[in-house]
Order: sequence, then structure tokens, then C-alpha cells
Amino acid sequence: MSQVKTLSYGESIEKAGDTLSRFPLIPIRGTPLMSLIAENFDSIWAFRPDPTDLLIATYPKAGTTWTQEIVDLLYHNGDAEMCKRAPTPTRSPFLEIFSPKPIPSGLDLLETMDPPRMIKTHLPIQLVPPGFWENKCKVIYVARNAKDNLVSYYHFDRMNKTQPEPGPWEGYIPKFMRGELAWGSWYGHVKGYWEEREKRNILYIFYEDMKENPRREVERIMRYLNLSLPDEAISRIVELTTFKSMKENPMANYSCIPNVIFDHSVSPFMRKGEVGDWQNSFTAEQSQLFDEDYEKQMKGANIPFRTLI
Ligand code: A3P
Repeated sequence: MSQVKTLSYGESIEKAGDTLSRFPLIPIRGTPLMSLIAENFDSIWAFRPDPTDLLIATYPKAGTTWTQEIVDLLYHNGDAEMCKRAPTPTRSPFLEIFSPKPIPSGLDLLETMDPPRMIKTHLPIQLVPPGFWENKCKVIYVARNAKDNLVSYYHFDRMNKTQPEPGPWEGYIPKFMRGELAWGSWYGHVKGYWEEREKRNILYIFYEDMKENPRREVERIMRYLNLSLPDEAISRIVELTTFKSMKENPMANYSCIPNVIFDHSVSPFMRKGEVGDWQNSFTAEQSQLFDEDYEKQMKGANIPFRTLI
């Protein structure tokens, strides 16, 4: 793995100061994206990955950071110190992110790194730059059940001051159901990657499976990456990527992003990390309406989501 030239996120964000705001969403081919991403979409689409680059794709709040940490540790044989060399977004750049200058974009960061790189994206499959498919890059897709994903996104939109105001909880649920949040429809997102997983050699994994049996899922990722680590290294990775370990790890808990963007006092980035937390937010009536609509939107999809484990 290449070494990353350390760019201080914190300093650049502090400098960007007043230019930061809750950016409006602009649709790109029907998918609402933060305006700076939409305005720069042509350069994102033109990105040419190396065939050795790995793409970690998710709908926001499905377990991206967790998977990035697992993969980085796998690439480094479970070496905890090596994986504390920089915060997550520097070790594993966010492909499409564009912020006001001087904050580096995902593409800026990628230019400073040699392949193989671990690249994060929230883009739905139809907006993933075609170079990833042409170069047959490996892709890990992490999916999380809709209800927990929605609750996590709601709290994230409260604390992330660059995303549109979430408004009250009861109004947020229909926005999710209509696909009006940043990066669009959860339903279309999970189905898009699911339908293409075999043809495009995508490893499709579930947040709930990772919670239920983290070792099994770490090993699954390891095999997909054609790696073979000794048992004790795998055990170490499982331990280093528990919710508790990552919450305490300043290089994995997003404390690198200053309060002007991520206000952890509103809701911490590493919030609860549970399956079934949706039960603390949905009323019985909200749950029923959601489920009825879910049946329609997911008809025929047959993706084995679990809302409880
Ligand atoms: P909650 O808000 O439900 O706590 P992403 O990285 O895609 O933004 O996802 C963030 C969600 O994953 C948050 O969910 C966060 O707490 C959870 N998460 C992050 N690391 C985790 C871990 N090691 N184990 C379980 N959940 C984790």
C-alpha cells in the first residue's frame, strides 16, 4: 500500500469557514446530490481508477466507515499503528466529495496517492464512473436495513452542517421514502448494486451480518480481496473494529472533522452502532406506513434484509 501525504482536514476546514453551509441538492440524472458534487460531476464521472483500486460503495450511514477500517487493517495485516497513520477520509478518500476551497476534494486526495487505493462512494451504481467497470475493479457494497439506515441518516443530517436541514423526524420519513435525501433513493441504491452483483463481481454484504458475526464477515472480505491472514491477525481486526474500539479511535471516529461541519455535540458520528435501534424512533403507525410502502418499492427484489437480529 502507498503512503498518504498527510493533508490536514481540520486546518483546511477551519480556513473554509464562512463558505461552508447546508448545501442545496441538485439532481444529476434524477439523483439529488449536494450542489458542489453536482457542479463537479463531469470530473467525477471522468475519474480513471487503477485496476488494483478497491471501491467501497454504500448508501450513506450503512456501515461505510466500519468497512473502510476493516479493509485497511486487512491490507496491513492487522497493524493497528499503521492504520492510525491518518483519519479515515485521508486513508480512504471519498470519491465524489467536493467542498469549498481549500478543503481538498476526493479527487485531489486520490491524486496524491499511489494505487492500490481504497475509495469510498455513496453514488448509486448508475452514477459510478465507468472506469471502475472497464478496469474490473473490485467493489464491496455494504447494505443496511432501511429503518436503521433511515434513523442513522436522520441523526447524521442533524449533526452534518453541510447537508440539508433534516427538519422534524415525522417529516423526514416521507423524504426518505420518496428518495429526496442526498444520494437519492435507498430502495433504488440497494437494488441497483444487488442486481449487478454477479455480473460485476461485487461483494454485497450486510451491516446486520457484520454485527451478528463480525469474524465471518471479516473473513469473507479477506477472501474477496485474495488475502490470507493468520488467525491471530483476524482476531485482532475483529477487536479493533468493534463499535467501542472505533468510537475511541480518533483516526476512525471522525473527530478529525471540526465542529463547523460535524457537530458531534448534536449527535456523535459513532452514535449507537446497533441493529433494531429504529424501534426507539418509529411509532407503531409510522412503522406500519413505512412497511406498506416498503413492500411496494421492494417488490420482487428478494434482498434478505433483517431489521432485527
Ligand atoms: P448509527 O448512527 O446507527 O450509530 P457510515 O460509516 O456509513 O456513515 O455509517 C455510520 C453508522 O455506522 C453509524 O450508525 C455508526 O455508529 C455505525 N458504525 C460505525 N462503526 C461501527 C462499528 N464498528 N460497529 C457497528 N456500527 C458502526
